[in-house]
Amino acid sequence: MNVSQQFDAALDPLEDFDVSRPELFFEDRWQDWFARLRREDPVHYCKDSVNGPYWSVTRHADIKAVEADFKTYSSAQGIVIAEDESGTDMPVDAPTSFIAMDPPDHSVHRKTVSPAVGPANVANMEPLIRGRVSDILDNLPVGETFDWVDNVSVELTAQMLATLFGFPYEDRRKLVYWSDITTNVPQVTGVEIDIEERMAGLQDCATTFLGLWHQRASEEPTADLISMMAHSPDTKDMINDPLMFLGNLLLLIVGGNDTTRTSISGGVMALNQYPDEYQKLRDNPDLIPNMVAEMIRWQTPVIHMRRTATRDVELQGKMIREGDKVILWYLSGNRDETIFDDADRFIIDRPNANQHASFGFGVHRCMGKRLADMQLRVVWEEIRKRFQKIEVVGDGTRVSNSFIRGIREVPVVLRPH
Ligand code: HEM
Repeated sequence: MNVSQQFDAALDPLEDFDVSRPELFFEDRWQDWFARLRREDPVHYCKDSVNGPYWSVTRHADIKAVEADFKTYSSAQGIVIAEDESGTDMPVDAPTSFIAMDPPDHSVHRKTVSPAVGPANVANMEPLIRGRVSDILDNLPVGETFDWVDNVSVELTAQMLATLFGFPYEDRRKLVYWSDITTNVPQVTGVEIDIEERMAGLQDCATTFLGLWHQRASEEPTADLISMMAHSPDTKDMINDPLMFLGNLLLLIVGGNDTTRTSISGGVMALNQYPDEYQKLRDNPDLIPNMVAEMIRWQTPVIHMRRTATRDVELQGKMIREGDKVILWYLSGNRDETIFDDADRFIIDRPNANQHASFGFGVHRCMGKRLADMQLRVVWEEIRKRFQKIEVVGDGTRVSNSFIRGIREVPVVLRPH
C-alpha cells in the first residue's frame, strides 16, 4: 500500500500531518499536503515523527523571514531534519563545514572558498564545460531507449565537479559516489545503509583529497578550488583539521552533485509533461536562461533546510521554543500561489521564475548558484542545437528522500532535428 492510500491530505487532522515522510517524495504526492499547510496552518507543529518533533514553515515569505534572522534560527545544530544516529560524524551536517555554522565563523569560511565559484572563475570554466557537455551529447545513441539520468545527468555533473576541483577526469565518478554515501542517511531516505562501506568511502575521499591538496600546495596556484584553498592564507591551515577539511570538501561535492543532477533530469521530465513549453523552447532559444530558473523552481532540488531556534520566538502566531527544529520547506515555498500564478505548472517564460526559493535566502544562499545556472544554460543550449526532442518513453523513478528531490531513472529516446 502506498502512502496516498494510507493517509489523506484532505481529511486527516492537521495535528497528524508529518510531511517529512520520505515516501511522499518517492511517490511524488506531496503537493496536496503542503497546499493544505500553506492554506490552513503555514507554521505547523508535528509532534512526532521518525525525526522527532519539528516545525514546518511552508510559505515563501515566512521562509525568507526565518532565513533573514540567523541569530534566532541557527544552522549550527544541523541543516537536515534528521539527527545522525549512525555513530559516524556526517560531515555535511556536523559543524565542520560552513553550511552548518552561523556568522561570524560562517562568513570567514565562506569568503575564502567563494571566489572559486565567483563570476570570473565561472566565466573561465564555461568553454571547458561546454566542450565536455558537447562530447557527452555527441556520443549519445540516437533513436534508442537509454537512461537519461545515468548517461547524461550524472555524467555531466561529475565532469562539472571534476572541472571545479581540478580532479583527475578519469576518476570523476568517485566524486558522485562520495556524494551519494554522504547524503544517504536512513531517517532522510528511509533506506538502511552499510555503515562500514560508508566509512571506507569517506576515508578514501579524505585520503585522495589530502594527496591532491599536497600536490597543489607545492605547485604554482591554479584556478581550481583545491589549489585556491591550499594557497589562500585563510584556508591553507584547514589541512591540519581533517574533519573541517573533509567537511568543506564534501559540502562542495554534495552541494554541486545531487542538485545539478536532479535539475537536469527534472528539466527533461518537465518539458515532456508540458509539450507546449517544449515548443516555446524550440521557437525561442533566448528563453533558455529564464527556463533554467523555472526548471530549478519547478524541480526544487533541495526540498528543505533546517534551522534550530536559539530562543523562544513567535512566528505567525505560533510559539516556537528554544531548541525546537524549524524546517524550511523550499518545495512548498516554490508552489506558493501568492507568489507564483498557477504555481504547479511549468512555464518557461514565467516572469518571476527567478524569485524561486530553491537556492535559499540570506547568509547561506547557495554559493554555487552561478555555476549551476551556467552549467544548466550550457547544457540546454547544446541540447537544443542537436535534438528536436528528448522524448521520455516510460515512467521516471524517484528517490525516497525528504532532503534531495532525487530522480533515479528516466528512460528517453533522442529525436534528431
Ligand atoms: C541547481 C543547483 C543547486 C541548488 C538548487 C542548490 C541549493 C542550495 C541550497 C538550498 C543551499 C542552502 C541555502 C540556505 O540555507 O539558505 C545551498 C547552499 C550551498 N550550495 Fe548549493 N545548490 C545548487 C548547486 C550548487 C553547486 C553547483 C555548488 C558548488 C559546487 C553548490 C554549493 C553550495 C554551498 C557551498 C552551499 C553552502 C553555502 C553557505 O552555507 O554559505 N551548490 N545550495
